[in-house]
Amino acid sequence: MTSRREFLARGTLSLAAGATLSVGLDPALASGPADWQAVRGLFDVPGDYTLLQNATATIPFAAALEASAQAFRLSHDPRLPYGDLLAQVEAVRSSVARSIGANPESVAIMRNTTEAMRTVQFGLDLAPGDEVLAISVDYDLLVWRQSLERQGVRLRVFDLPVPAPGTEEIIALYEAQMTSATRYMLISEVVSSSGQALPVAAICAAARSRGILTLVDGAQGYALSGAGVAAMGCDFYAASLHKWLGGARGMGFLYIRPELIERVWPLLGNYRDTADEGAIGRANIRKFEQIGTIPIALWAAQQAVFPFLEAIPPARRRARLQQLRDRLMDGLVDVPAVRFLHGRGEATMGIGSVAIAGADHRKVVNALREQRIIVKALNEGNVSCIRVSPSIYTRESEVDRLIETLPRVLRALQ
Ligand SMILES: Cc1ncc(COP(=O)(O)O)c(C=O)c1O
Repeated sequence: MTSRREFLARGTLSLAAGATLSVGLDPALASGPADWQAVRGLFDVPGDYTLLQNATATIPFAAALEASAQAFRLSHDPRLPYGDLLAQVEAVRSSVARSIGANPESVAIMRNTTEAMRTVQFGLDLAPGDEVLAISVDYDLLVWRQSLERQGVRLRVFDLPVPAPGTEEIIALYEAQMTSATRYMLISEVVSSSGQALPVAAICAAARSRGILTLVDGAQGYALSGAGVAAMGCDFYAASLHKWLGGARGMGFLYIRPELIERVWPLLGNYRDTADEGAIGRANIRKFEQIGTIPIALWAAQQAVFPFLEAIPPARRRARLQQLRDRLMDGLVDVPAVRFLHGRGEATMGIGSVAIAGADHRKVVNALREQRIIVKALNEGNVSCIRVSPSIYTRESEVDRLIETLPRVLRALQ
């Protein structure tokens, strides 16, 4: 019979598969010309569909999926002590922390950006008359607004013009909304509908000089901007690992500036004010993770993704996605009804955001799906568009398929 130690060694080997996953990655990826065809080979891309909806959730690296499957089996084997799997979670915590330049003791593992943001949005004490700040295209303001209403707190929402103005004007727009009643504000690192990268560091600095806390939504920025929390100067940072990064679905994290951890009430977790050994105290970031039985396999398997993040760093991903997005813009330039909601270059990430005059964007998206091209219709705040989000596994020929198919679909819908 397999001893526990042998079994555990095997299990740990599987869970720590990330250490060997970089095999097959072109070392030039981090700096030189990339072999994107080889990168595509690291994913199980279903060849019969053109997948351009990666800002929602990308296909995981095949190795990440495999590590999740292995960890899933192990996590259901009663011979493997739970505590040993928890040790793997600590390794993930350290990897996440390294990727954002933070101390692991300030990173909580969460299921996604939504949970991470809600933890801050529902967990800070506010008083009637306080205000919080967001732009109308920030993610899912409804639930937050409802919880604030119950406390008599105002959610002050303003529009960012589309296309966005220059950096200085964006900063001025935010500053103009900050009042003496503003307690904290939400800032999207990258706006999900347009791919617009916001000048987060400058906005956070302006907020801090007024005593306003900052919650940065890194869902669309984490794997592409690579800024890190110290450079951003934010108080809270939330992100998902299943978006551009290529992790399995259902993983995210929350960074909290260490001195603020005590101030945030856990949404579902608990803490104990006791000196008992092993007790999770109020200032311990793990208090947010005490939510009962967790999908430990997913958490533990995430470690397999980090070698890829490190081998294909954010700047490389961003450049590739911008190249694909610019190809789309060039290809549709002569289609009269089509308008892009953003410019090119560093102020935007790899998202193509297309508004089509006179068209119902949802119908266009459905018609494209019939042609096996998957994109997303968005209607948020002052933005209505079709969002085209390629991945690092996307081929130029797939972008060209959309360029050829969209005008045909629009003619058929007229
Ligand atoms: C900007 C932004 N924030 C938050 C989220 C929520 O991410 P998740 O579903 O992983 O919680 C999304 C989802 O697309 C997003 O685009």
